[in-house]
Amino acid sequence: MTRPRLSALALMAMCLGMASLARTTQAAPPKPVATDSQGIQKMNFGKLADGTPIELYTLTNGKITAKITTYGGIVTELHTPDRDGKTADIVLGFDSLEGYLAGHPYFGAITGRFANRIAKGKFSIDGKEYSLAVNNGPNSLHGGLKGFDKQVWKAEETTVDGSPALKLSRISPDGEEGYPGNLSVTVTYSITPENALKIDYTATTDKPTVLNLTNHSYFNLSGPASGTILDHELTLAADQYTLVDENFIPTGKLGSVTGTPVDFTKAKAIGAHIGQIAGEPGGYDHNFVVRGAEAGSKKPIFTAKVKDPKSGRTMTVLTTEPGVQFYTGNFLDGTVKGKGGVVYKKNQAFCLETQHYPDSPNHADFPTTRLNPGQTYTQTTVYQFGVE
Ligand code: BGC
Repeated sequence: MTRPRLSALALMAMCLGMASLARTTQAAPPKPVATDSQGIQKMNFGKLADGTPIELYTLTNGKITAKITTYGGIVTELHTPDRDGKTADIVLGFDSLEGYLAGHPYFGAITGRFANRIAKGKFSIDGKEYSLAVNNGPNSLHGGLKGFDKQVWKAEETTVDGSPALKLSRISPDGEEGYPGNLSVTVTYSITPENALKIDYTATTDKPTVLNLTNHSYFNLSGPASGTILDHELTLAADQYTLVDENFIPTGKLGSVTGTPVDFTKAKAIGAHIGQIAGEPGGYDHNFVVRGAEAGSKKPIFTAKVKDPKSGRTMTVLTTEPGVQFYTGNFLDGTVKGKGGVVYKKNQAFCLETQHYPDSPNHADFPTTRLNPGQTYTQTTVYQFGVE
């Protein structure tokens, strides 16, 4: 199968979300980017301190464009059009690799081996206890000290159903960050003709282990320089959520959303009831139970929709996962300066992290996160963009 490649100029024009580059160099009238100009392109993104080269890939279908780096599999940019066709980058991140290396709260990253928290960094498989690095209060968060977000991934240009795709892979060695089993992981990003960023994950292991992968993109559908996301309207296909203790560890009980500030069963501004969430730092940081999720299903189902009334941009999330962590960037405290020197503040973005429930290895009645030799873990999540 052949993959059309883009000229550097066309790609750059698209990434900048404007035909103006073409206009200034060719004095031609602005024209919309052709829908058939899909492609993938590789660029250098710098080096790690030890000299390891890092790449940045640009994937586009001519309407939406994603940039993804081999460092942490991070989605560094995601350009989508607003209701007037004007394109903007709608994810938080940095202009260069240095920003990511300096430390950040998982902007755009592949999160694993275990997304979200494992209580006290401990779990058992078949009676054997495993200990993980504790990196979040008393708990282990997002894979530990050097999780998948800080690893260098092998990249391969490919296609998924004829769409340009980037397949990232790595072997996570037995014992990495305390997790058992040599784990072979692939994460494939593709841009579909329906204007979606689709992420397909697979993994196999040679020892029983636990696994929970997600993508940790921080979205602001007006563009991250534009303030908070409190006016964005959210619908969640979730009637229940996992109740947690003061350290965000599930108690094991599910709560009904009905009549509570976490009821997003009908579209509601994110900021409408956010002030009613108790505790520090306040804001949404909840795992919702996806309505209709079926164990082992390979068909992503409707999970969430977000609409930005200002730009008209919409994002619809479909997943095969049983849970989704809705997080409103509560810990963004103005200490991180991102793209274009913009200081990221509380509620400047939201995350919809499709995943299994936090601390599942310690809750036998939660959908299992165990992976055995001979089984293949799969996860598919679709972030589809539109306008209203
Ligand atoms: C967690 C938050 C955490 C954030 C960044 C989210 O998945 O639920 O508690 O602060 O990731 O690490």
